[in-house]
Amino acid sequence: MSNVISGKELSKTIRAKVKEDVEKLQATYNKVPHLVVVLVGEDPASLSYVTAKERACKRAGMKSTLLRKDASITQAELLTLIHELNDDPDVHGILVQLPIPDHIDENVIIDAIKQEKDVDGFHPLNVAAVHLGTPGILPATPKGIMTMLKSTGVELKGKRALVIGRSNIVGKPVAMLLLKEHATVTIAHSRTQNMGDLAREADILVAAVGRANMVTGDMIKEGAVVIDVGVNRVDDKLVGDVDFEAAKEKAAFITPVPGGVGPMTIASLLENTVECFLMIEGK
Ligand code: GUN
Repeated sequence: MSNVISGKELSKTIRAKVKEDVEKLQATYNKVPHLVVVLVGEDPASLSYVTAKERACKRAGMKSTLLRKDASITQAELLTLIHELNDDPDVHGILVQLPIPDHIDENVIIDAIKQEKDVDGFHPLNVAAVHLGTPGILPATPKGIMTMLKSTGVELKGKRALVIGRSNIVGKPVAMLLLKEHATVTIAHSRTQNMGDLAREADILVAAVGRANMVTGDMIKEGAVVIDVGVNRVDDKLVGDVDFEAAKEKAAFITPVPGGVGPMTIASLLENTVECFLMIEGK
């Protein structure tokens, strides 16, 4: 039987700490961090994510602005907007919600965001920092996952970790962060053979593939820590990549969906916004 790692509860603690930090920043700098979120198009899932991010910012006492742009915006127009936000001293964080329409090159937009305003940690210099293990803004979901892992008290050093998924946003960075903590890391993906065998050896299992219940109970090692990043809609219910009911019988710790990694991503974004503020205002 496992302990459920409640991202909902842990994120409340982080958000309360961020709120305190913001009050201190207001007292010191006479201003608060300002996050600008850019949403291109009408994707309902993206809209609900950015609304949650905005609400969390405001609750933490920060300033937040949502800029909604039509899906027909050109790459040049979006770049102009990014440059304006880069140059605006009142803006400390810029987040362009992904995905953006196909006619715009996502990499060009991400590269254009000033590194110190890159609250997502997606800029190549921040990506490089994760790989080099040097200071930088960590991407929010991997950062939240590491906070959850640390909250269990389980030592990562020397443990076998399996990360299922190789996305730039989650799989690759989380693998690097686990490596930094001296875990022995394997990255699995859609072409991986014998996934079950790899999973059964994993002391730490991070599932980030976006396929409902693809990690079954028989794939979990007794006593493992299981982090489920998946958010999949099945019959109007949200489920993760892990079969939670079966896995919780074997894992020592497991994250639920919803209420697991999701709230931690938002809490980490708030922490990143404070970090960006300090990089800019603390100069
Ligand atoms: N789309 C899905 N996750 C994210 C995220 O963490 N940041 C941004 N900008 N877009 C996303």
